[in-house]
Parts: sequence; C-alpha cells; structure tokens
Amino acid sequence: RLDVAETFHGITFPGHLHTQETFQYAMSFKFQDTDTLIVTYPKSGTTWMQEMVTLVSSKGNPVRAQTQPNWMRAPWLEQYYCPQVLKASQGPRFLTTHLPYQLLATALQGTKTKVIYVARNPKDVVVSYYHFHKMANFLPNPGTFSEFLSGFVKGTVHYGSWFDHVKGWTSNSGNIHNFLYITYEDMSQDLRGSLERVSRFLQCPLVEEELTSAERSCSFSSMRENSMVNYTLVPKEIMNHNKGKFMRKGKIGDWQNIFSEEQSCSFDEVFASEMSESSLEFVWK
Ligand code: PPS
Repeated sequence: RLDVAETFHGITFPGHLHTQETFQYAMSFKFQDTDTLIVTYPKSGTTWMQEMVTLVSSKGNPVRAQTQPNWMRAPWLEQYYCPQVLKASQGPRFLTTHLPYQLLATALQGTKTKVIYVARNPKDVVVSYYHFHKMANFLPNPGTFSEFLSGFVKGTVHYGSWFDHVKGWTSNSGNIHNFLYITYEDMSQDLRGSLERVSRFLQCPLVEEELTSAERSCSFSSMRENSMVNYTLVPKEIMNHNKGKFMRKGKIGDWQNIFSEEQSCSFDEVFASEMSESSLEFVWK
C-alpha cells in the first residue's frame, strides 16, 4: 500500500517518501553557507519557488527548468532520494523542506544558509491540499471537505498543523542568518517584483531581459505545460492525473468556491485565536 504513514515527533508523513532514517538525515544535515533552503507547508507555493530560484540562478535561461525535474534541482531534505541527488549535483545547492522549524533548528544553527519561507493564505492551502489528496495515492482518502477541514484545523493531516508551521518558522526567523519571507499572494500579484526580491536575496542580479525570461517561465501557464514541474513524470499509480491536476487553478481566493459561510466563520475564529501573537497578514481574495 502506498498510503501508509510514517510518524515522526507526533506528525504524520507519507511513508513512501519518508522513513525514520530520512528524518534523522535531515535533522543532522550539514548545511553549508552557500545552501539555499526553500521552506513551506504543503500547497503554499513550493514548486513555484523552486522554479523561481532555478530561473534566477540560471539568469533567466530556461534550459535547466525544462530538462531537470524540480525534485532533482531542489530535493526535499527529508525524502529518501535526497542524499543521492546531492551526491550527483554540483555548485551551490538548493534544498526544499516541509519540516517544522523545531526539527531543523539545531542543524541550521550557526550557518549562513539562506532560508526562503513561502506562506499562503490557509483557506486556499486547505482547498488545494484537499484536491491534491484526491489525485495523490500516497495520501490518505480525505473524505468530505468538511472532514478534511476539521483535520487541517486540528493539525492531524500529514505534515501537521499549518498554524504551528508558519508560527514556528516566522517567530524564529531572528535565529536564521539569512531569511526571506514571501507569500504566494505576493508572487501572484507581482511575479516580476517577487523575482527581483529573490534575486536580491540570492545576490544574483538579473538584467531586464533575463528577468522577463524568468517571469515567462514562472507563469502558471508555462509551469502547467512544463513536465519537469507539473508532476506528469510521476507514475499514475502514485499521482493519478485523471483525478486532478497538480497545477490545478493557481489562483488566490478559490476557497470561496468550497467553504460554506459557517465553515469560513469558524475558520476565522480559529485563525484569530491561533495567530493572535503573530503580525502576519494574508490576502484572502
Ligand atoms: S506541494 O505538493 O506542497 O509541493 O505543492 P505546492 O507546490 O506548494 O503548491 C501547489 C499549488 O501551487 C500552485 N502553483 C501556482 N500558482 C500560480 N502560479 C504558478 N506559477 C504556480 N505554480 C504552482 C498550484 O496550482 C497549486 O495550487 P492550486 O490552488 O491547487 O491550484
């Protein structure tokens, strides 16, 4: 069975990608000062940021983005194939993680590794995540949206609580030498400006034409067609593209098409209480 879970520190993860050894590997990872780590809660813009860092570091040249899958360009630290990918790679490393802050705090301590945290409004995250569960055979059956939403709010879904993830990373950003906080909504409302922010953060300047080329490759329409990022390379036993698309809608505010009034109000209450100490603000529509 593909959908067996692996539990680590009270959080469940898909068992076909994670083992106790892979978590240990991530927790004791030797970060280098030249590494860049993309951090997200699932469905928050991970693949988009992987594409953005690829295009920025290749100065807008689309070849790498069109010939190498995203998980080879910026492997997930906690997934089993990471050591092999890193062994075969050259130059400054890009890594990705969905792990919560407390599991990587020690490994990151004292390094100058650049951390890019991408957050997305949680109502759109849960909707995207719900649809993804229907096509990803390595995730449990999500049940109804109402059932899935309740698991998301309680933090019992795979990868744990969205609230703990966002609060953990952002409230500890002062402990991280180089930290960039950016949202899916920033990227959606101003892709060019967001690429410029990433380019400044990575200290990798791009001229206008390079930026234009990067912007083109990172658009939703280009990425939807790019088999190196749209997950059509993954066998259909693992991701069933007849049941949905990884590049599904790519919009802000899709939650309004599925949340009932009541679900929205009760989510707002949980959000207000969970995020009362946080100054983060989200664009909801
Ligand atoms: S995962 O499984 O955690 O790696 O998923 P992740 O990449 O974080 O999130 C997938 C959602 O991001 C959307 N996406 C984009 N939106 C706009 N523009 C671009 N270029 C883009 N690339 C990916 C993708 O469509 C998923 O969101 P939904 O709302 O489901 O469409």
